[in-house]
Amino acid sequence: MRGWVAMSHWAGLLCTAAKVSLLLLLVSAVFFQSSLSDRVPEFALTKIEESDIKDDSGKEPITDDDADPEDLEVFYPTHQWQAVRPGQAVPAGSHVRLNLQTGEREARLPDSESGKSDAKEEKRRRRLNKMDIDTNSFTSQELKKALAKMKENEKAERTAHEEEVRKKFRPIEQLKEEFEKLNVKMETDYEIMDKLISKFNSSASTLDEKVAALYDLEYYVHQVDNAKDFLSMGGLRLVIEGLNSTEAVLKEHAAFVLGAALSSNPKVQVEAIEGGALQKLLVIVATEQPQAVKKKALFALSSLLRHFPYAQQQFLKLGGLQVLRGLFRQPGTSALCVRAVTLLYDLIVEKMLLEDSQHSDHMEKVQQYRRVQLVPAVLEQDWCVAVPGLLALPEHDAREKVLKAVSVLMELCRERFRGDTALSATLGMLRSEYEELAAAERRDGDGDGYFQELLGAVNSIVRELS
Ligand SMILES: *[C@@H]1O[C@H](CO)[C@@H](O)[C@H](O)[C@H]1NC(C)=O
Ligand SMILES: *[C@@H]1O[C@H](CO)[C@@H](O)[C@H](O)[C@H]1NC(C)=O
Repeated sequence: MRGWVAMSHWAGLLCTAAKVSLLLLLVSAVFFQSSLSDRVPEFALTKIEESDIKDDSGKEPITDDDADPEDLEVFYPTHQWQAVRPGQAVPAGSHVRLNLQTGEREARLPDSESGKSDAKEEKRRRRLNKMDIDTNSFTSQELKKALAKMKENEKAERTAHEEEVRKKFRPIEQLKEEFEKLNVKMETDYEIMDKLISKFNSSASTLDEKVAALYDLEYYVHQVDNAKDFLSMGGLRLVIEGLNSTEAVLKEHAAFVLGAALSSNPKVQVEAIEGGALQKLLVIVATEQPQAVKKKALFALSSLLRHFPYAQQQFLKLGGLQVLRGLFRQPGTSALCVRAVTLLYDLIVEKMLLEDSQHSDHMEKVQQYRRVQLVPAVLEQDWCVAVPGLLALPEHDAREKVLKAVSVLMELCRERFRGDTALSATLGMLRSEYEELAAAERRDGDGDGYFQELLGAVNSIVRELS
């Protein structure tokens, strides 16, 4: 039913905007129908990252891919209903309800999880959302405004115009068919990226326009082939130059695009390191910058280093690990520190996994990884002390990452950990907290839930240290 209301409202809005196209109508209708049915419309315009949805089974080291917890405080659903704080982002696929007694929104995991298809659905939704923006018809600000207004009117519209709407507007399926009949030519990703790069590079563009161009580019360069095109079009060079823009917001978004283009894309990784991206990113992390800029720089750094031992060697040579360690000496940077620890964890695990694999075709890679000398730097820079300090953070996901890092550092740091009285106190505290939460989870019928997993991680560390 809400879908109908959304469509009617949008149709009206679009007509007045005089830019009505069936495509946009279709896109808006599909998009807003799904967002409304989630009952978290304000979130539907924010980006939900796949990595927030994906179950991290421990096979692949945790990274943020393109997640950005700074822009988005993420709610971690369990199988129990939990209150969602204002501004918190709820991962796609969660069930959301309004608690009528408290007026709070609550969310939990759906009964039968199908994370994969949810993630897919979210990608599609995100793409549809982007298509709106690509048509230059509405900015995301305008969309947000319209959505807020729509929310306001929702109730009234539902009761007063329901029948009228039913008569006037056709179901989405029908719209789709008509859209296909029109056979509207869609722009290719290449054409769109070309336009966005020009927009970003043009001296006639305003700062906002440049940021918007980068924001949209970030979406396209996720695809491996698009990222290669982005490279051949000269876009990569432009965003690397963008890293030393005087505008913080440009630096931030340039790093965001760079990180997305680099993710699992060896060709782009090689070009980026040759183009001086590593030095520029380290300068950003090491110098006084807004946190948002540093976060994106860490994201890009992680994408540049992962699965690329040559870059990891250069990183160590340039004192990169020392730069990350420096984050711990600044106040109020715990989120950045968690990212730094996650990056270190990824590098260690990556090296371990490769050295464990016996395939002969890995020999060259193994040789390369041998040259990545992490251990001396980790010991010299006192990471054995810095990492467990972060366990005192209140967020479960931060603790989860730090617990993993503590486990992986165990061989190297065991003696330091044993002598760390703050660590043993924190572990005791975490243990009782997660025992309680895991018991609640079990009562809820969830035998191996999230808190059980965290409890297991705490217990195994305690065992290792006893
Ligand atoms: C960016 O603009 C400059 C100067 O206008 C031009 O020479 C250059 O080719 C452009 N780069 C790209 C990648 O479009
Ligand atoms: C950009 O950064 C590089 C080093 O990272 C530096 O040599 C260069 O002077 C910087 N350019 C500007 C315009 O700040």
